[in-house]
Amino acid sequence: MEWTVGRWLAPGRVNLIGEHTDYNDGFVLPMALPMGVTCTAGVRTDGAVLVRSMQAPCDFVETTLDGLGATGWSDLPHWAHYPLGVIREFARRGHELPGVELELDGEVPMGAGLSSSAALSCSVAIALRDLYAPSVSAAEIIDIARTAENVYVGVPTGILDQSASILCTEGHVLFLDVRSGATEQIPFDLNKFGLDLLVFDTGSPHRLVDGEYAQRRVECAAAAEALGVPFLRDVRDFADVERLSDPLLRRRARHVVSENFRVLLVAEELREGFDPRSIGTTLTAGHVSLRDDYEVSTPALDVAVDTALSAGAYGARMVGGGFGGSVIALVEQEQTGRVTEAVREAFARSGFDVPRVFHAAPSAGAHRLE
Ligand code: GLA
Repeated sequence: MEWTVGRWLAPGRVNLIGEHTDYNDGFVLPMALPMGVTCTAGVRTDGAVLVRSMQAPCDFVETTLDGLGATGWSDLPHWAHYPLGVIREFARRGHELPGVELELDGEVPMGAGLSSSAALSCSVAIALRDLYAPSVSAAEIIDIARTAENVYVGVPTGILDQSASILCTEGHVLFLDVRSGATEQIPFDLNKFGLDLLVFDTGSPHRLVDGEYAQRRVECAAAAEALGVPFLRDVRDFADVERLSDPLLRRRARHVVSENFRVLLVAEELREGFDPRSIGTTLTAGHVSLRDDYEVSTPALDVAVDTALSAGAYGARMVGGGFGGSVIALVEQEQTGRVTEAVREAFARSGFDVPRVFHAAPSAGAHRLE
């Protein structure tokens, strides 16, 4: 392509532990996946904005920077809201943007809870940064990508996925304190211990995810208010949670408060160089909490977790927002075939679609390819 001036990659992620804690000002511990979204970008100087996705074979969606500022987004295809949202937000913040042409291509399965949308937004954001505003900080890139999803797609996500895609490094999990923005790269070398992290993509769609996700945020805010704290992150004592009179808010708060403790525990064990087998029970406890207290799991996710554990996994849990998506399982390398087969058979018996299975190695965050 004549207009090409570069190609960028932003990865998807799995979150080792720390689900639904980001919008409660808490802690998360994600790692980047080897697969991501590539953005091939070319400079334009005529104010035109052209975007195309190889996953939605069609011609370029064409608009202009001025056009993006006006209303009329409802006529645009859904996928295009992500890149165009990033472009619009980038320009809205005053960064010089004379026009751009983008081609997007992705390998992260969509709707699998592996952050395909953050990979998409982040690949565009870093391409724009490198082409037009190299001094923009990583924190602002993350904020631009998140704002694009919140405002122009209409999904009220926290900051986990975009932070993972931008900040993760190969061979590490990223410990992020969402409140302070402090980060720490913690080595996560499963191979050294003869272990593997398997990902089972259940292929079940994120049913009702938008509405239910937003609802969980509202419930957490209500629980924090009832406890007299700004965010559930500020609850230090489980006894406070148990004092909540509303049983639903009590369950939601119990998940968030205990999940923050689980993140701190796993981060500490890995930081200290413990055998990662030791984190397995904490991962599984995270799943039980998401299933029973936060109520975001599904029968397929539960079958994958229960079967992986019965087949010998040290720990297993759903990842991402829930209501479908993927499960991770920490397994002995020699057991990967056995665990995979067991989950496949259980899915067949339960009438679920054949899950897609791959192994996750902690990979590099977003970067330029060429
Ligand atoms: C989705 C959101 C994230 C986070 C997770 C749950 O992936 O995009 O911000 O809230 O769900 O941990």
